[in-house]
Amino acid sequence: MKNYSICIVGGGSRYTPDILGMICNNESRFPLKKIVLYDIEAERQEKVGKYAELLFKEYYSQPVEVVYTTDMDEAFKEMDFVFMQIRAGRLKMREQDEKIALKHGCLGQETCGAGGFAYGLRSVPAVVDLIRAVRERCETCWILNYSNPAAIVAEATKRVFPKDHRIINICDMPIAIMDMYAAVLGKARRDLEPKYFGLNHFGWFTHILDKNTGEDYLPQLREILKTPVEVKTEALFEEPSWKSTFHFMSQMIQDYDEYLPNTYLQYYLYPKKMVEKENPNYTRANEVMDGNEKETYTRLEQILSLGKIKGTPYALQADTGCHAEYIVDLATALASNTNEIFLTITKNNGIIENLDSEMMVEVPCRVGTNGVEPLAIGTIPKFYKGLIEGQHAYESLTVDAWEEGSYMKALKALVLNRTVVNTDVAKALLNDLIEANEGYWPELK
Ligand code: NAD
Ligand code: G6P
Ligand code: MN
Repeated sequence: MKNYSICIVGGGSRYTPDILGMICNNESRFPLKKIVLYDIEAERQEKVGKYAELLFKEYYSQPVEVVYTTDMDEAFKEMDFVFMQIRAGRLKMREQDEKIALKHGCLGQETCGAGGFAYGLRSVPAVVDLIRAVRERCETCWILNYSNPAAIVAEATKRVFPKDHRIINICDMPIAIMDMYAAVLGKARRDLEPKYFGLNHFGWFTHILDKNTGEDYLPQLREILKTPVEVKTEALFEEPSWKSTFHFMSQMIQDYDEYLPNTYLQYYLYPKKMVEKENPNYTRANEVMDGNEKETYTRLEQILSLGKIKGTPYALQADTGCHAEYIVDLATALASNTNEIFLTITKNNGIIENLDSEMMVEVPCRVGTNGVEPLAIGTIPKFYKGLIEGQHAYESLTVDAWEEGSYMKALKALVLNRTVVNTDVAKALLNDLIEANEGYWPELK
């Protein structure tokens, strides 16, 4: 079996330690030769890099070359995989996005509404530049991109790199939701096969099939989940705001017939309620900066001061979470031609017959060494088609605004977003966001 070289772009991300752990746990099926961390913040990344050195020394049977660098030549050459998870402007700018939106009475959220729009205009130029830089140094590696807002980033990467089928945009939310379904059913997620359609953070499960028997658990799940359930999946989802998000699924299931919604639909279907829930002075970005981000880096500092991992309270766990599991499983499928089914963001190409073929949709795909192959969906009912087309027009206009440097396209995008709607509000919002994003956004004229 070949040994692989992987570069994690955004090596300093708070998600990197768990991905490294998952890579370690998968040595037998996805063996590693070299791991490179690349980031623009050397100091932040260094802690993760030193952790990686300890981890592979203690837990890997073969020697692994560990590199952490801010040099693109050192990072991108001769890679098999690039895992990308950058946050342009870091959590400080996410805080701005959320607070500015709330100041104007609109939803303030990382990837949805005006927050996601602002993040999109920062993220797209950064991700596109990085992909270009990777391709100048490595023509054939797989680029698996988690960087958000994934729907908008995917629309941009499709436009800029139309023939590059080795760029795959992904999201962990559907499988995080499936972990919850599996827990409710007393099964493992791997026993379940989803049928799903939509855009990223904007989709619906239509069937949850038992891989062995073909039984569809969706009707049963809808009945059970009409009332909020308490199931343990990941530590992150124990946090109050995530708990509330998972519980709100019940409201959506009660209010609508058929299917099971992605959690993110709460923001588009109940924007007023979601704004009312928010504290405009302390948003999710604050929670993450004071919570998960701090905990992650404090843990790393403690590990580094101990100088070891094994035999400490920080010993590597067998399961380091669905976010890490998903990207490692996907890379394994691409490397070893497993032909397993994954939900990825990919060009519609007629899979959903009554939607634009150019649309980047999130659908089940068969994954092997030739890449992702979306599976047929057929036609979708009017309500979902209408919602998706409106949302897609918003996403597409946001990418137009970036490509053309157009204020008018940016304004039209915001007005199309279900969480903004009013032109006067959109204008005031846009003007504030332009000011806050100086140096990150393209100039909008
Ligand atoms: P973070 O701020 O903790 O880490 C991001 C890292 O990216 C930082 O170390 C930062 O210095 C680095 N960075 C920023 N710009 C860069 C650039 N141009 N080149 C190289 N490095 C750069 O953020 P996080 O909370 O760990 O999240 C990372 C990303 O993953 C975000 O985009 C987040 O939205 C995304 N994410 C996506 C999913 C999904 O479902 N698609 C799930 C979880 C996280
Ligand atoms: C899920 C989504 C991601 C999103 C993350 C945000 O994993 O799929 O797209 O970035 O949640 O979580 P946070 O805890 O940062 O609000
Ligand atoms: Mn996501």
